[in-house]
This record gives sequence, structure tokens and C-alpha cells, in this order.
Amino acid sequence: MTQTDTYVPGLEGVIAAQTRLSRVDGLRGELVIGGFPLEEVAAQATFEEMVYLLWHDALPTAGQLEAFRDQLAELRTLPAATLALLREAATSQTDPMDALHMGASTLNLGVTDQAGNRRLALRAIAAFPTIVAAYWQLRNGQTPIQPNAELGHAANYLYMLFGEEPQPARVRGLETYLNTVVDHGLNASTFAARVIIATRSDMISAMVGGVGALKGPLHGGAPGPALDMVFAIGSPDKAEPYIRQKLDRGERLMGFGHRIYKVRDPRADVLSAAAEQFYQAAGDMGLYELARHVEKIAVDLLAEYKPGRNLQTNVEFYTALLLHGLGFPTQIFTPTFAIARVGGWTAHCFEQDRLIRPNSVYIGAEGRTWQPLDQRINTAHNLHTP
Ligand code: ACO
Repeated sequence: MTQTDTYVPGLEGVIAAQTRLSRVDGLRGELVIGGFPLEEVAAQATFEEMVYLLWHDALPTAGQLEAFRDQLAELRTLPAATLALLREAATSQTDPMDALHMGASTLNLGVTDQAGNRRLALRAIAAFPTIVAAYWQLRNGQTPIQPNAELGHAANYLYMLFGEEPQPARVRGLETYLNTVVDHGLNASTFAARVIIATRSDMISAMVGGVGALKGPLHGGAPGPALDMVFAIGSPDKAEPYIRQKLDRGERLMGFGHRIYKVRDPRADVLSAAAEQFYQAAGDMGLYELARHVEKIAVDLLAEYKPGRNLQTNVEFYTALLLHGLGFPTQIFTPTFAIARVGGWTAHCFEQDRLIRPNSVYIGAEGRTWQPLDQRINTAHNLHTP
């Protein structure tokens, strides 16, 4: 065993896995997924093809794709217990990401040990959109819409959310988004999923852990607040004073900065192009142009306030714009991210074959002696809770 005494906060720069799924080059701003440059594959593949590529390291033939789509279709419908739980969650207007977390954890219901992780992985991928859409309907006082076996994965999600068969352009827009964020090296939620599966826990537990990690605003929770900022700014002349005030208060700008990318996140380019096409087709470029302006001011001001940090636009800024253009409410931006990333989480779990168990450096007290309760004085420190 190799042992090192060096403490690396946040494991920054530490290599903790080998993967053939995606290569992230943070200095060049490159992302390769399953051997394809992101720009080559994101706007062409269906989501089913993307997941198949990650799972099998090759694109499917027509027959393989059809079989994969059929397997997903079979597992899309939710167990009654899942729906009952979502119905309960809707009565208290639970956050959609929490509802996904709860719903996902029920996907083990009635599953025997023999089901195997591959079947559970399929079940998670198939059911995540149904959970999110059903929950959204319930939260809005509507009856969940059953999946339509004739539609593909992305089209089904739109259908269950909005209640009508989507136009091909909307399906393409959503598919481009899902493909763009399906996998991204050893990001926080993927790492969480790998840690869980590495203990030989089950696939659903690993997916639920991934959802928990993705929820945070430093990871997948950023696009809602990023769009809120653009709306709050409202017009180009207000961008600079608004962002200056935020930075003066020491706040972070959601949708900017990245642990790995020190140049513009390549996913931002793909999503910005998809969003531009979409807003152009819809005949209203106002929000898109405002967002471009806000982005420029934000990047300039981040360089001024945080010199040397190279804080650039990340994927979340244009996620927000594209999903908004597709008609998604901000509350389900992050669950939609999970619907994509579950493809990557499952594939990473198949790769993980060793227990993950790093070390910590003890910095606490030593040699204390026990004191009876009536002799203690309060010397407790508050633990830092982030
Ligand atoms: N706005 C303002 N300041 C920022 C931002 C930001 N978006 N991002 C980083 N900084 C500052 C930090 O305050 C810190 O400044 P300091 O050294 O003066 O204290 C410095 O830049 C370095 O920040 P770290 O937190 O050490 O950088 P890290 O690599 O850990 O952070 C992260 C990466 C979490 C993504 C960060 O850039 C951030 O919080 N961004 C906003 C949230 C966001 O957009 N998240 C989505 C990321 S993409 C994804 O996960 C899919």
C-alpha cells in the first residue's frame, strides 16, 4: 500500500479513478465522451445512444438500440408505492430534488438480489424522468401522465411534463442538453456514487447518493439561481452595478467558475449554440442577448475581483437558458440534470471495482481524561458547519 502524509483539501488534483467514459481537459477546455469530442456527438446522438455508448464503449447498431429502448420503456412506469410517496411529498410542496431523492430510493422496492445492478441501473435511468414529471404534475394539482411506449426517452420526459407530444426541435434541444451533461470525469456526484457502489452496496443506493451530491449549489444546483440573476438584472445597463454589488457582498456568481476548467467550459459553447438556435426559432432573442451580455460583464468583473483565479462561464449558465427556452420551470432544472447524469453514474459504477477509503489527518486533542458530568465546565467549540 502507498501512504502519503500530504493533505489535499477537496482532493483537488488527486487522481482517484481510471475511466474510459470521459476525458476532461480543464486547461484546453476540451471534453471527450466515449471517445467523441463533445461538439461531435452532443447534438447528433439520442440520449439512449449516449448511455449505450457509455455502457458498451461503442455506439449501438439499429437492432441494439431498439432493444435498449424497449428495455427502458418496460421500466418507465412507477410502482404504486413510489407514486403514493410523491403524492405525499407534493402536499408539502417538497423541493423537486428532494422528491426525486425520495422517489429514487423506492426503486429497490420488490427487487430481489438476483435482479442485479445492471437491471437496477436500467430501472433508475428509465424511471428518473417519470418520477420528476409525475411529481411536478402532483405538485401542481394534476394527475401524473403515464409514459408513452411509442416515444423515446427525452420525448417521453417532455410528454409526461407538459402533456402533449413534443415537437422534434424541442426533443432535439433536450437531447442535446442531456447528452452534454451525461458524464464529466470524477465530478462530486459521480465520486459519491462510486464511493457507495465500491462498498458493494446496490446500484439504487449509489444513484440516490448521486442525487444528494448533485443537489448542492456548488454542483448541480446552480442553474436556477443563474437564471434568477439574469431575470433580476432585467436590462443590460443594470448588469454591471448588480454584479458589482453581489461581488462586493462576497457572494458567488452561480454559473461561473469550475474546479477543473480554467478556460470556458466547452459544454457552455454547445448549450449556448443550442439555446441560440432555439430562441431564434421562437423569434425572441431578448433573453438570450441579455444573458450573453450578463455573461460578459460577469467574466470581466470576476477577473477584476478575483485576479488569477480564471473564473469563466460553466455549464450551468447556458443550461438555465436552454431549459428555460424549452419551457422548463426553474425548480426542475437540477432534477433534469440528474435525469442526464444518472447515465454517467451507472457507467462509472460498472467501472468501480475497489473500495474507496482515503485517510484523514487527525488534528484533534490527545490524552484527555474523563470527567464526571457534575464536574464539567463548558469548553465546547462549535464545529464549523458549512
Ligand atoms: N463567483 C465568485 N467568486 C468565485 C466563484 C464564483 N462563481 N467561483 C469561485 N470563486 C472564488 C472563491 O470565492 C475563491 O475566492 P478567494 O480565494 O478569494 O476566497 C476563489 O474563487 C476560488 O474558489 P474555490 O471555491 O476554491 O474554487 P473551487 O475550485 O473549489 O470551486 C466551484 C469551484 C465550486 C464551481 C466555484 O467556482 C463556485 O462556487 N461556482 C459557483 C457555483 C456554480 O456555478 N456551480 C456549478 C459548477 S459546474 C457543475 O458542477 C456541473
